[in-house]
Amino acid sequence: MMRFIALATLFGSTLAQQMQLANNYSGSAFFDLWNYKVGNDVTDFFGNAGNEGVVNYTDQAFAQQQNLLFVNSVGNVIVKTDNFTSGVGNASFVRNSLQLLSKEQITPGTLVIMDAIHMPFGCAVWPAFWFTGGANWPSLGEIDIVENVNLATNNAYSLHTTDGCMASSQVAITGDLVSTDCFNATAFDEGCKVTDSTLSYGSGFANNGGGAFAMLWNDAGIQIWFFPRSSIPADLPTPNPNPSGWGTPTAFYPESTCDTTKFFGPQTMILDINVCGNFAVDVWTTCAAVAPQCTDVVPIASTFDDAYFEIRYITVFSNSTTGSSTPSTTATPVTTSIESVISGSTTFVVVTQTPSTTPSGTSSSMGYSLHAISLSVLAGLFGLVLTLNTM
Ligand SMILES: *[C@@H]1O[C@H](CO)[C@@H](O)[C@H](O)[C@H]1NC(C)=O
Ligand SMILES: *[C@@H]1O[C@H](CO)[C@@H](O)[C@H](O)[C@H]1NC(C)=O
Ligand SMILES: *[C@@H]1O[C@H](CO)[C@@H](O)[C@H](O)[C@H]1NC(C)=O
Ligand SMILES: *[C@@H]1O[C@H](CO)[C@@H](O)[C@H](O)[C@H]1NC(C)=O
Ligand SMILES: *[C@@H]1O[C@H](CO)[C@@H](O)[C@H](O)[C@H]1NC(C)=O
Ligand SMILES: *[C@@H]1O[C@H](CO)[C@@H](O)[C@H](O)[C@H]1NC(C)=O
Repeated sequence: MMRFIALATLFGSTLAQQMQLANNYSGSAFFDLWNYKVGNDVTDFFGNAGNEGVVNYTDQAFAQQQNLLFVNSVGNVIVKTDNFTSGVGNASFVRNSLQLLSKEQITPGTLVIMDAIHMPFGCAVWPAFWFTGGANWPSLGEIDIVENVNLATNNAYSLHTTDGCMASSQVAITGDLVSTDCFNATAFDEGCKVTDSTLSYGSGFANNGGGAFAMLWNDAGIQIWFFPRSSIPADLPTPNPNPSGWGTPTAFYPESTCDTTKFFGPQTMILDINVCGNFAVDVWTTCAAVAPQCTDVVPIASTFDDAYFEIRYITVFSNSTTGSSTPSTTATPVTTSIESVISGSTTFVVVTQTPSTTPSGTSSSMGYSLHAISLSVLAGLFGLVLTLNTM
């Protein structure tokens, strides 16, 4: 066991050399890193068909002026739906809400982390943290990290693609694989879906202090982890997060059954709160006791008291960035040295990290080519440790 932990740490430190912080979406720096979808939900930001929400997506200035977008007293970002305007008796009422689209694009070789205290839920509420290839959906793919509707209790992860991308039942995941075909025309666009525990969504998530989601897209495919608050790995908020130490992913779409370079183009991150869009209308069951139909609750302001994200940070790490746009949090390149120490029958592998003297540009340009080297070094070391341990 000791051996395993030590090796996991070592592997993590070698992997970490390849990723650098590209952006930290947090505090007041959060707001200007996004474009804002403005207006109704008939079409989306890219001109695709919209989701038929009873919603008015507002611009940034209006949202900040109305306190739909602000930094709260503990420094977390709030992104919320209007829960103070009544539309009762107004047949043409639509509710103000937000859809944020990242200015940066996500490509293979990227790790995205979101740590949130609270995520939106409630009847008519459809929150999502997702990624899309944009125009001509789904030709450049869609990745859903956070999504469900109404009073659902479990988060769902999924991909939506053109024909030929499948989830695999052959890889280990901690979530429940519900459907394997990612093709948007299969099963009314259900996607290749993995569902998670009741701590991952809605009141279960909020009552547990929230948690963190991480998505790693690289040569292995697309992997997603969810960590409830108390089990967030210590390295998650640091400049050197190491996915290899995080254990079995919650969802994993391996490259062997979905060629992500073929089915996914550069992705725009989207954070939004839809109101009575088609998904919420179609899956109204959890709110059937509250009102006959979704549109009945839209005018009632208090319906939306829980329709907010409280976000500590969203970080984007990339293997192809040359440095952070926020210099104070730029990752320091590290070199790793290894010593083996034999103590009784237990072997300890001691990993020492020291700041590299290599210029950061050189360091980052090493990229993923290091991966194969790291693996072979690791394989050799593993053999060494086993040998030492039998002494
Ligand atoms: C929709 O949002 C815009 C800001 O983007 C705002 O000016 C307008 O008043 C809103 N519409 C309604 C009906 O509230
Ligand atoms: C009814 O709602 C619409 C859209 O939200 C808004 O523009 C309009 O001012 C409201 N009418 C009244 C009388 O409040
Ligand atoms: C799947 O995508 C195609 C291409 O955009 C579209 O024509 C079709 O309606 C979509 N099917 C579903 C069920 O979303
Ligand atoms: C990003 O910002 C948050 C909030 O200030 C901080 O806790 C976190 O450590 C930062 N992440 C990195 C990698 O700098
Ligand atoms: C809106 O929701 C927030 C967060 O739940 C709550 O603190 C606030 O009291 C609500 N506003 C109104 C007008 O009820
Ligand atoms: C980044 O990672 C991707 C996917 O693993 C890889 O294809 C690409 O070559 C890497 N880029 C660099 C600059 O290392």
